[in-house]
Amino acid sequence: MPRTRERYEKPALIRHRLGNLNGFARPQTTLAEGRIDGFSAADLVERHGSPLFVVSEAELRRKYRDMVRAFSLRYPKVTVAYSYKTNYLGAVCAVLKQEGAWAEVVSGFEYEIAESLHVPGEQIIFNGPLKRRHELEKAVAARSIINVDSLEEIAMLERIGADFGERVPIGIRVNMLLNDPPWDRFGFNLENGQAAAAAARVASSDHLRLSGLHTHVGTYVTDVDVYARAARKISEFCASLHQSSKLRIEHLDFGGGYASRNRLHGQWMPVDHVVPSLDRYAEALTSGLMNGGFPADALPRLFLEPGRALVDEAVHLLTSVVSSKRLSDGRRAAVLDAGVNIMPTTYWYRHDIVAVKDGGGVNEEVNLYGPMCMNIDCLQMGASLPPLRAGDLLMVRNVGAYNFAQSMQFIQLRPAVVMLGDGGVELIRKGETTEYARLLEDVPARLKTR
Ligand SMILES: Cc1ncc(COP(=O)(O)O)c(C=O)c1O
Repeated sequence: MPRTRERYEKPALIRHRLGNLNGFARPQTTLAEGRIDGFSAADLVERHGSPLFVVSEAELRRKYRDMVRAFSLRYPKVTVAYSYKTNYLGAVCAVLKQEGAWAEVVSGFEYEIAESLHVPGEQIIFNGPLKRRHELEKAVAARSIINVDSLEEIAMLERIGADFGERVPIGIRVNMLLNDPPWDRFGFNLENGQAAAAAARVASSDHLRLSGLHTHVGTYVTDVDVYARAARKISEFCASLHQSSKLRIEHLDFGGGYASRNRLHGQWMPVDHVVPSLDRYAEALTSGLMNGGFPADALPRLFLEPGRALVDEAVHLLTSVVSSKRLSDGRRAAVLDAGVNIMPTTYWYRHDIVAVKDGGGVNEEVNLYGPMCMNIDCLQMGASLPPLRAGDLLMVRNVGAYNFAQSMQFIQLRPAVVMLGDGGVELIRKGETTEYARLLEDVPARLKTR
């Protein structure tokens, strides 16, 4: 057989990067044995196509149990409500529900997802700045926990209470000056007195009852002191409400924000140094409450609404190399079949990307582009990977939060999602088809031409 010689390519200088190095002073870049939870990544893609989201049921369950354990060890009454917006694939929510998680939803649409999974109404926490009247009526009738975001919402709930002839229990969302920039567009500010005014407004109503306080201090919060300060401030607020109006708050909801093991852009420290353990979060938050002056027999129930901390590490993305190139300046580039349309967290995370198989050769820095005809479609600049050829598989780790839920069908359709677990490999969402993507469209008859 005649041997075809590969074209000579001018070598490029490889910049040495600091970071998480293995024993050979290079980052770990290959998936151990090419397997996820014991299943061959190559087989998964062969059966379900590429790209492919892969959910680990075992990891989901582990994350939920770890969260419950960390907080329940330190505080007597803890309920974890999973933040649906993070990833509302039915199977993901169903696994967490089976574990005992309540549902935290921020829209009528998410409320309906929880209903479709038979989450009891009283185990749904309804948050968010837009709740329509019919959605609130349903939530009131179902005894869901409603945390109000604005005075307008308080007024709407008061009218609903009057129509229903009852006193509706509600929580108010409180924001505090805890971080920079502050998360102060949601709910009522504590420091400027809006929260106290909102509480007084609720307390004075014949149709409402103030049962809880809600806050969400931010997202991917790596400073546990933020939670400690939030707990102190909320405890003081509860004490002042009790003093001024004899109000006893039944539940405190501290939202989510606990970071997952992902790295933000520009953050070169190893994840272990940056992301606190669940125990540290739990200690900061619960010690603030335990020392908050609540009578021992009237400790409020603690609600948590984690999102990324539960699902991020339970989902990975498999993607294939479409082509491999040298850029004009000698840098290596590869085009993948997965782009930022299905991986929006690429904009703020430098994801951990590994080759499924090591084909040999020296690692080189390579820019990983997506398949969209847009310059911004880049999954990673300068990833250190073995030489890549068309057809090679890569895995993007820890992509469970805010990717599928925020993905869009743009230039490419959304891929399939499988779950690995007790049932083996299960398809939990089919890959989209053109017919599905255009299902809701109509072309007026006058424009239909052959
Ligand atoms: C009210 C509320 N609760 C919970 C969450 C979940 O946040 P995270 O995924 O950072 O845990 C969010 C997300 O922004 C939120 O707005």
